[in-house]
Amino acid sequence: MREWLSMFEERPSAMHQLITLARQIKAGQARDATAALRGKILGMVFFNPSLRTRVSFESAMARFGGHAICLNVGGDAWGLEHRDGVVMNADKAEHVREAAPVLSRYCDVLGVRTFAQLRDAGEDSRDALIRAFAAHATVPVINLESAMEHPCQALADWMTMEEKLGDTAGRHFTLTWAPQAKAVPMAVPHSAALAAAAAGMHVTIAHPPIYELNAGVMDRIQTLCDLLGTRFTITSEQSAACSNADVLYVKSWGSTAFYGDAAAQQASFAEHADWMVQPRHLHSRRTILMHCLPVRRNVVISDEALDDPRCVVVDQAENRLWTQAAVLAKLLS
Ligand code: CP
Repeated sequence: MREWLSMFEERPSAMHQLITLARQIKAGQARDATAALRGKILGMVFFNPSLRTRVSFESAMARFGGHAICLNVGGDAWGLEHRDGVVMNADKAEHVREAAPVLSRYCDVLGVRTFAQLRDAGEDSRDALIRAFAAHATVPVINLESAMEHPCQALADWMTMEEKLGDTAGRHFTLTWAPQAKAVPMAVPHSAALAAAAAGMHVTIAHPPIYELNAGVMDRIQTLCDLLGTRFTITSEQSAACSNADVLYVKSWGSTAFYGDAAAQQASFAEHADWMVQPRHLHSRRTILMHCLPVRRNVVISDEALDDPRCVVVDQAENRLWTQAAVLAKLLS
């Protein structure tokens, strides 16, 4: 494994090997694998805020004898340009063409977080910033959430589903859209649904009309479902989509129809306020409720649902630590 940028073309079996290794690390086994982190340095570049991603990676490096350094672009680090050929006479003082190879001289592995701009769907779909980092770095690069994907979150999601359900093959995964206070990206829903498809689950995605996810990602999910003999359904009927879910995964995302128009996006969220997830959406006492966090209580998911014992969001967040330790072990071995 040379990088962990995207789940898009990863083989399901290769991803599942990471889940198996993560579960071994969590159980206190696989010491040979985690020895790869000893004495190594992870450099993380954040263009956006983080609680879980930053602390879970720092914790993984510290626990297994390595060290992590965090840079917050525009805060304690220079503003970074990634486009080629631009005249850099505005707010960005440094180019990724220098920053990535310089950081590669100091660090053994790099991580980059960069959200979607939510202005141009085509530009976001190219994931240009993280791709530029990967192109100019000389050490492995990890996607800490980009415009299109959050593959570290998805590994933790997969591990959590396997812990809670046992064999995931043939089980029912429902991803439901939920309202928000402001537009947020599509990376998590893309990666969660890709992971569920790769885990051999029947995948249902429920969202109101005009909240379509990226077409290329939907095609990939269909391909994975065809390969593994499962069903893939997209619907605007939230209640029906929840009616047989073993896993109810909740996530808000903005509509490309409202990119650049915050007022219209907010009005649409208000119009669909009844999509907020509540205990009535959990169809059985064994259905698990998932969300990547952070979550806005009583906007995205109600207090009652988040405080229900079927809600596994804290277990999900813990598993970021173990799955990322597995990714680091593979990249550094
Ligand atoms: N789920 C997740 O990536 O959390 P943070 O944004 O806090 O890192």
